[in-house]
Amino acid sequence: RSLKPFNTFAVEQRARLFAEANDDAEVRQALALATRHDLPLLVLGGGSNLLLTRDVEALVLRMASRGKRIVAEQDGSVLVEAEAGEPWHPFVLWTLQQGLAGLENLSLIPGTVGASPIQNIGAYGVEIGDVLAGITALDCETGALRDFSQAECAFGYRDSLFKRQPGRYVILRVRVRLQRQASLHLEYGPIRQRLAEQGIIAPTALDVSQAVCAIRREKLPDPSELGNAGSFFKNPLVSAELAERLRAAHPGLVAYPQADGQVKLAAGWLIERAGWKGYREGDVGVHRLQALVLVNYGQATGAQLLQLAQRIQSDIASRFGVALEIEPNVI
Ligand code: EPU
Repeated sequence: RSLKPFNTFAVEQRARLFAEANDDAEVRQALALATRHDLPLLVLGGGSNLLLTRDVEALVLRMASRGKRIVAEQDGSVLVEAEAGEPWHPFVLWTLQQGLAGLENLSLIPGTVGASPIQNIGAYGVEIGDVLAGITALDCETGALRDFSQAECAFGYRDSLFKRQPGRYVILRVRVRLQRQASLHLEYGPIRQRLAEQGIIAPTALDVSQAVCAIRREKLPDPSELGNAGSFFKNPLVSAELAERLRAAHPGLVAYPQADGQVKLAAGWLIERAGWKGYREGDVGVHRLQALVLVNYGQATGAQLLQLAQRIQSDIASRFGVALEIEPNVI
């Protein structure tokens, strides 16, 4: 089965076996089938954080389960649960329509609800881990269902327990804790400025969502028009000393001091500064508006995209002494 429609890079690779699961029972059936064929299971959500560099010797399981519901509500704090296959952005819009705040900064992120905790999706100062209340997953080793609390997910920057143990758990349902009374996060990026330009003084969660959508549309390519997997590298954490040295040499350096004393650098700034922004070779390239995003202009292979990523990594290492870590799951 071709996986081209199931990865947002739109790379042409095949899966040994392919199945879709609409509910828990179908996930179990797929796991049994994979075991019978002695194949590992590769779970796909929206395929928006994936780079396929070869055919996949696995049973590729696409999560197609649907359903979202308010589970409990107390004093304006609302527990919402959604099935793993729910597309992320429509889920965010649905929570906003219910009058619930908490996910607005995460608007327009591609992918599914079930994939969102794996890389702890984040944007504009909010991560899913901040509002996550629990996860129900199938443990592929024991065959048992297991509930994870927020703490058990061990979230980090674009990181979680699930990312560190690939193949172990299939996320079935995700619960988030949302609020009737919004406490908005406006301090990151150009959100506040965008709202001010529109004359919005007392924004609602919906206003913030719309501002985030507009900002994202300006810089990030729509995967249905241009193959990509969002940011291809993580923003690197470096020592304060290295950040200081780099700033002395490059006064425009974009750097965010962290609570632990380290400094997070904007990888997009480093890549742009190194001259890669808008670079194109054949069908692979670096997006012309966001240097952190690699793109497939048509027939690029995953191997070509990976090769470009590696050239960028070694260039950034030699110019700045900074190691860039690839963000999507590379197969
Ligand atoms: N920048 C440049 N040149 C570029 C790109 C960025 O100079 O080509 C500078 C910007 O001017 C800005 C800074 O770098 O000062 C940060 O840029 P931006 O706001 O575009 O965000 P980012 O750090 O590049 C991260 C996330 C995004 C998320 C945005 C907004 C990672 C790896 N990426 O990108 O997440 O949407 O912040 O919060 O942390 C994703 O993970 O796929 C993703 C899109």
